Amino acid sequence: MIFRGEKMKILFIGDVYMDQGRIAFEKYFNQVKNDYKPNIIIVNGENMASGNGLTEAIYKDLMTKGVHAITLGNHAFSRKDASSVLDYPNVCRPANYGPGTPGKEYVTINYNGQTITIINLLGRVFMRDQIDNPFTKMDELLSKIKSDYIIVDFHAEATSEKYALINYLDGRVNAVLGTHTHVPTADNIIFPKKTMYISDVGMTGVKYGIIGGEIKQGIRKFISGVSERTNPELSGPYQFNAVLLDFDKMKIERINIFE
Ligand SMILES: [Fe+2]
Ligand SMILES: [Fe+2]
Repeated sequence: MIFRGEKMKILFIGDVYMDQGRIAFEKYFNQVKNDYKPNIIIVNGENMASGNGLTEAIYKDLMTKGVHAITLGNHAFSRKDASSVLDYPNVCRPANYGPGTPGKEYVTINYNGQTITIINLLGRVFMRDQIDNPFTKMDELLSKIKSDYIIVDFHAEATSEKYALINYLDGRVNAVLGTHTHVPTADNIIFPKKTMYISDVGMTGVKYGIIGGEIKQGIRKFISGVSERTNPELSGPYQFNAVLLDFDKMKIERINIFE
């Protein structure tokens, strides 16, 4: 892992949520790519296929557009056909599921003689899956990964868990980027030992939904207390949220487009 001012700009796009997210992605991706000129592009795709992970068609579409890596989250295994896509190159599922889980714990990309490793990790606070400890899982992974850059997508609900992890990993990885809440935070900072951080990158999808979900259903669920499978909100306008990690200027910049 290096902290020198190498020419490396990494664009990370937050959870692209369902079909509307793909519309928002389509609308702003080229503009953002042209404006910021990243070397590497990472997308959190855990909700791209009707809310649940990826399909082969979506994977191929992202690769054609110039995306280098796709991270996932708690919805990585929600589709019956998910496991084949999990084995595709450049896709990583949360590393702290148990041994034998389909998919890769991390992905390493080669770019002009430099290596960039992307790790997806799931939090445990307010999350359903009984997964391994993300802190000790990182110790295990960092003991074996040798890479010029290490970027962690920490897919978690609680900001306390996210701040504990960034303090634990400061100086050991190049960035810890929060995803999952779908709400962008304004705490894009660089920690004392030079690790870039944000609590949540935010989502890409509808602007006024309930974190992408249908408004009337979301309100009904909170009033009745009865859980339902989430429907997407179908109306625009849109939002597109990402961060640019500029390792030349040592800066983490928010890209928050709200129509
Ligand atoms: Fe999500
Ligand atoms: Fe999630």
